[in-house]
Amino acid sequence: KEESTLSITVVGASGDLAKKKIFPALFALFYEGCLPQEFTVFGYARTKLTHDELRDMISRTLTCRIDQRENCGDKMDQFLKRCFYHSGQYNSEEDFAELNIKLKEKEGGKLANRLYYLSIPPNIFVDVVKCASLRASSTNGWTRVIVEKPFGRDSESSGELTRSLKQYLTEEQIFRIDHYLGKELVENLSVLRFSNLVFEPLWSRNYIRNVQLIFSEDFGTEGRGGYFDQYGIIRDIMQNHLLQILALFAMETPVSLDAEDIRSEKVKVLRSMKPLLLEDVVVGQYKGHSKGGKSYQGYTDDPTVPNHSLTPTFAAAAMFINNARWDGVPFLMKAGNALHTRGAEIRVQFRHVPGNLYKKSFATNLDNATNALVIRVQPDEGIYLRINNKVPGLGMRLDRSDLNLLYRSRYPREIPDAYERLLLDAIEGERRLFIRSDELDAAWDLFTPALKELEEMKIVPELYPYGSRGPVGAHYLASKYNVRWGDLGDA
Ligand code: BG6
Repeated sequence: KEESTLSITVVGASGDLAKKKIFPALFALFYEGCLPQEFTVFGYARTKLTHDELRDMISRTLTCRIDQRENCGDKMDQFLKRCFYHSGQYNSEEDFAELNIKLKEKEGGKLANRLYYLSIPPNIFVDVVKCASLRASSTNGWTRVIVEKPFGRDSESSGELTRSLKQYLTEEQIFRIDHYLGKELVENLSVLRFSNLVFEPLWSRNYIRNVQLIFSEDFGTEGRGGYFDQYGIIRDIMQNHLLQILALFAMETPVSLDAEDIRSEKVKVLRSMKPLLLEDVVVGQYKGHSKGGKSYQGYTDDPTVPNHSLTPTFAAAAMFINNARWDGVPFLMKAGNALHTRGAEIRVQFRHVPGNLYKKSFATNLDNATNALVIRVQPDEGIYLRINNKVPGLGMRLDRSDLNLLYRSRYPREIPDAYERLLLDAIEGERRLFIRSDELDAAWDLFTPALKELEEMKIVPELYPYGSRGPVGAHYLASKYNVRWGDLGDA
């Protein structure tokens, strides 16, 4: 087999995402020996930097995981030697043609594969893709482009973006990232469902009362107000991260583990869903709050946010899947910034045991005695199943308890970052964890009508104090469907 080379060009190399996630993930892959023998990393941005200045910037972001401490310094040096910089405009074909010359030099005439990571604002995606595809594509290997949300703000703008990208790229060349799909426990969802006999038979409206998808951050949008205010929490978290989890959770068994088979099942779920109704969504925005002598700024106190912004930093929504398996089961989503805790979980509440013999033996009320399965995506990854158990002793008292798979005890090795998995998959051409364009369209169709109404009707978000549990409206929404939110981190 002809020896091939790989070049990875990070466009927008001095941005936050590149520094925090992409370079560290590339280094971790290099450390693990997952990158080809011959690879180079190019940083591309407008700022004038020397190679060494880029290396210096990258080196400040690199760390070694606990299990990667051996020769860590040497490995970093080896990695940094493969990093180069090219400064250019994002819409200049000439600048990309110059990049092409530099890439060719490194490739030395071998079979050349090229991966572009667009770590830039979406309004320049198309410029970059145009220049890169016309002037800096590989002539004898593959050229792939990783893009990350926001993919538009609604069905229309997203469709427009897809059409523009497809003028220069085929669907096979586009890798749309949703980094939640690279998280260990999200990937494990299908394993849990399809490789264990005990869950799949229960996985339907017959046994499941409701499913909750919860995302919570304990910090505000400080510093990202400019971006965030254009999008809001529904577009930032729900339409992508939580909806992707929902699709994996609810899809039918795919024909195989091939990317197209899995993605087709996900699209089917999304297309079976009813678009979100305005009456099934509650929005909130955090306000300033003082706690323990410290004061926390409200969302609109951020200088990059307009004073009268109505952008939600919190949302709760009830969604339904109109198919035989899930008819009538509420899928409740909740996502918020500046809340009391940080975490992401899938919580499955099962139905009551019919004619329960032990009704009288519970210390707590029966409502708490139903089984629940919690998949904790982060932090402190784990899966636990809440069961009822006899309290040991001579009496007959029941207690709820957990069968608990705590990753930290069972798998002490540190879990790789989602971006490592996703970058590796893009390099290997594995598309399973990337969003296909019909999936993206279906996802937008579910949220676009409600988003439009919220904006056109200028719906005022319910204010909640920074560091609180969010607006009470979320509880009313849940109780409309006879649901009580589970508490993050709590069994
Ligand atoms: C991003 C959002 O997609 O996900 C951010 O734009 C959010 O607002 C982030 O903070 C959360 O990712 P993680 O991996 O830290 O949970």
